[in-house]
Amino acid sequence: MRWIGTSFKMTKTIAESAAYAARLREAVGPEAPAGVRPFVIPPATAIDTVARTLGAGSPVLVGAQNAHWADGGPWTGEISMPQAADAGAALVELGHSERRTHFAETDATVRRKVRAALRHGLIPLVCVGEDAPTFAAGGSADHVVAQALAALGGSADTGTVLLAYEPVWAIGDAGRPATPAEIAAPVAALRDAVGDRVAGVLYGGSVAPENAADLLGVPGVDGLFVGRAAWRVEGFLRLLDIAAGR
Ligand code: PGA
Repeated sequence: MRWIGTSFKMTKTIAESAAYAARLREAVGPEAPAGVRPFVIPPATAIDTVARTLGAGSPVLVGAQNAHWADGGPWTGEISMPQAADAGAALVELGHSERRTHFAETDATVRRKVRAALRHGLIPLVCVGEDAPTFAAGGSADHVVAQALAALGGSADTGTVLLAYEPVWAIGDAGRPATPAEIAAPVAALRDAVGDRVAGVLYGGSVAPENAADLLGVPGVDGLFVGRAAWRVEGFLRLLDIAAGR
């Protein structure tokens, strides 16, 4: 299975998200290309709209960019896993480096959130990735394996978890696209360490139509997690075509 997904991060209004979802529904139709599993992660304000616009039974999964470990309570500013699911999310992104960097997300909080997501039937999409100094020191594989092991813990029920290997130095406007050779060892290390416990290992960080096929060709890569290049729906559709071999 090739998972192709995008997070809108903190972009798009409800109307913009709805227009994106409507175009996606029209282009993808009732069945995704064979072997391809698309997912879209809008801002929390637009999860409900995107899920409704895609419609029940859509092959495109909808996700949340984060959710709390508690089922409810005095956690101002947070949404819970049940609330994310109630809005239409089937998947929840956890531990993105922007959340680890700016919002004090740690391996321990990611772990609690993975447990909560599984308890509520959401697919956890756990982001792991090393910063530039760790990469330069040759520590990428050890770093991401430690993050993945921390997120999964000793649980036996992690079979739906998706991992996204996202080197911090490759993400966003300040990022440098990673080469297939650079991601091969960390991906292989993740597969060796936890490959039999998760549903897939995705790659993310400056993915674009120009490098998507090469990155998908790295052994052990089960999909791509995309930011900027998929924020226009035509970019996302192009990536779905590439994943489908078209
Ligand atoms: P980018 O973002 O594709 O814009 O580099 C990737 C991500 O943060 O997941």
